[in-house]
Amino acid sequence: MNKIIHAAVRRDLARFGDALARFPDGSVARATQLHTAWKFFYGELDYHHHGEHEIAWPALESVGVPKATLDQMDAEHARMADALAAADTAFGALAKTPTQASAEAAANAIADLDAVITEHLAHEEAELEPVYRANRSGPEMKAMGRQFAKRNTKDAGSFFAWVLNGATPEEKAALRVDVPAPVIAILPRLFGRRYGKTVAPAWR
Ligand SMILES: [Fe+2]
Repeated sequence: MNKIIHAAVRRDLARFGDALARFPDGSVARATQLHTAWKFFYGELDYHHHGEHEIAWPALESVGVPKATLDQMDAEHARMADALAAADTAFGALAKTPTQASAEAAANAIADLDAVITEHLAHEEAELEPVYRANRSGPEMKAMGRQFAKRNTKDAGSFFAWVLNGATPEEKAALRVDVPAPVIAILPRLFGRRYGKTVAPAWR
């Protein structure tokens, strides 16, 4: 699941970079659309990090991941939070003043964010993913999965619509390992309307 979320994060960062580079000067409509997509992305990422801190780190610590490693992850999350806040300000400015200059400033903020995120995701994938995999059938990871599932009931439809939007066949297959196929098929359609209506049009 973590891998699928990481793929969605990387995909959106590339989309933002691309969209800002081609921003039509003066377009209120495009600025509003990108601002909306940004707010969704920001919200999902923030929610994901809090989940990692509250649910994943204690579970990982219980299977032997050193506290120092998890502290390092939290320090990276803090740097990401700063870069996210800076990008949020830039997207707010773009929505208010939809000029090429605002788009350039937002593109710079996205590039800074991308650098921090790329480093962090690679770090998590190198240090934590082998632990998730080695313990996947153990009671600690199963309990962690249940806690995440319970937590994700808040707008789970939009969450699934997000991670599936633009996902490769491999990523979709990987998602099916963790989530039953009927859930993947039904949730985004029934409850992912917010994403489908307000965010997905930005990437068409
Ligand atoms: Fe993380």
